[in-house]
Amino acid sequence: MYYPEEVIEEVRLRNDIVEVVSGYVKLERKGRRYFGLCPFHGEKTPSFCVEPAKQFFYCFGCNKGGSVIQFIMSIENLDFPEALKHLAERAGITLPEPDDNAEREKSRIRKEILDINKEAARFFFSVLAGKNGLEAQGYLKKRGLTEKTIRRFGLGLAPAGWNELTETLLAKGVSDELLIASGLSVRAKSGELIDRFRGRIMFPIFDIRGNIVGFGGRVMDQSQPKYLNSPDTPVYNKSRELYGLNFARQSKIKKLLMVEGYMDVISLHQAGIDYAVASLGTALTQMQAWILKKYAEEVIIGYDSDSAGQAATMRGIDILERAGCNVRILLIPDGKDPDEYIRNNGPEKFKNLIDRAISLLDYKIRAENKMHNLDTVEDKLKLLNSIADILAAHDNSIERELYSKYYAEQYGISLESLANEVAKRRKKLESVRNGPAASRRPAGSDRESQPAVKIDSRYGELEYMLLVMLCNDNHLFGRISARYGLEDFNDQGAKKVAEKLYGRLEQNKDCVLAELLADLDSNTASFVVRIAETKCDLENNEKATDQILNKLELLKLEELQKQTIERIKNEKDGEIRQRLGLEFSKRAERIAELKRLA
Ligand code: UTP
Ligand code: MN
Repeated sequence: MYYPEEVIEEVRLRNDIVEVVSGYVKLERKGRRYFGLCPFHGEKTPSFCVEPAKQFFYCFGCNKGGSVIQFIMSIENLDFPEALKHLAERAGITLPEPDDNAEREKSRIRKEILDINKEAARFFFSVLAGKNGLEAQGYLKKRGLTEKTIRRFGLGLAPAGWNELTETLLAKGVSDELLIASGLSVRAKSGELIDRFRGRIMFPIFDIRGNIVGFGGRVMDQSQPKYLNSPDTPVYNKSRELYGLNFARQSKIKKLLMVEGYMDVISLHQAGIDYAVASLGTALTQMQAWILKKYAEEVIIGYDSDSAGQAATMRGIDILERAGCNVRILLIPDGKDPDEYIRNNGPEKFKNLIDRAISLLDYKIRAENKMHNLDTVEDKLKLLNSIADILAAHDNSIERELYSKYYAEQYGISLESLANEVAKRRKKLESVRNGPAASRRPAGSDRESQPAVKIDSRYGELEYMLLVMLCNDNHLFGRISARYGLEDFNDQGAKKVAEKLYGRLEQNKDCVLAELLADLDSNTASFVVRIAETKCDLENNEKATDQILNKLELLKLEELQKQTIERIKNEKDGEIRQRLGLEFSKRAERIAELKRLA
């Protein structure tokens, strides 16, 4: 059975691998990975790990690995479509079935809801522009929004009457059922349909394609609730959408600034900070974190600096970190939200705050520091210990070192003792990570530990390494494709993966490894994940990539040299022999150069 790529990707994104695996294996977090006893071979010490940031699993013992889909295939003994169905059900997704009438009906309803949402947005917009919209216009003006911003975000006004929108849409032939399904109308006790949003400033919520999937409506006075939002509908799922992402994804700046509210996003965009997004009236979800990760290299959290905002920041950090995002935290003075701050201090001051956003380490350690007052030795010791914990869990060694120096000074502890503590903890972590890897191979699992994949013995591993590097960092595409085009791939399997990956990146779409794994048979998937876990877990991606490219070039050149020697031997024509000889020595120079670089 055929499923479109987006559907497979949606199923994968909505099934966090740590959660799914936890249903079968008891996992324990060690640094950035989770470890447990491998369910695919017998073992007493855990060598099975799950990488939350990369969304795959790998067993250092039996070399089995793959995405969440392959995990379910193996553990439940299902084929690909069955596993997909299983995971779709788990996440509450209905898979499209091309011949299924019910499914076609659903997609018709979705389209109709999008259409009436667009009608409704036009209606709200015209009410705002009309004579009954003066108060609301005044309100928006007072909050500093320009005409242009109002139009760009499609803001509008829901009239104060009971059923003006409902009547308008009914008159256009929209059915009762659809009005209710869209969330725009609700049935009153009397049985009549009335408007959900009344007397509120309306904020249409766009999905990334620019469809209007729902609305938020704000009162203009102090009454409650301040905001009313569309319920979840067939086109809107609040744990998935991010307000402003449709604009932010087009920003030249490859960062995203996460803020709390509609007004924050709008003010920021108006101030030229066009990469702001907000989660909608809910705490940030894992699903949203995956989406953020897909669109940005760095996520800056810019929540209110009140205590609720700080708690949300801590939660947000964990969720974003788990998705593998690079996170920084914006500190806004005086408990303000970004909108208020910009209005009082102007965009330039706010941009300065962004430049000074602090690292995740810094934020965690500051929070830790606030809990201790450093008056007693005991208290100082506790702080030292928690700082060492936080630093040890951080994977970047350069940052670890720099921050150790900084914090030792900052908190008056000796660098030596802090560095010792960090090193001790690192050692523990690393022994768990690497221990079972190379040294011990489980007995009696030969069938599984020897993938029966035909992989080109010389090129295969290097070519897959190249693809893994490219998945780790999509920005390497220019560098890689310039030296290694699709036609250069020798391993047929790697070539197929490359075709998909290059195709995606050429269209400026992102691609992560777990996404590509879906297409691979389980042995190839295991092989690729082994490479990702054991050979491509590097800090300097660019340098490592160049080295792989050099090795591949070297292989190819040496092959050509052999052929050239054969040809020279058999060539009678002296002139051609001379030309071949010239080629040979030129290549020999390059080979020598590449060997020097290796
Ligand atoms: P805030 O209370 O911080 O509001 O809620 P705000 O966005 O700063 O709005 P202004 O500046 O007072 O106009 C942050 C977000 O939480 C959701 C909304 O998405 C809001 O933008 N929220 C808040 C609700 O969904 N319902 C509420 O009653 C309040
Ligand atoms: Mn606000």
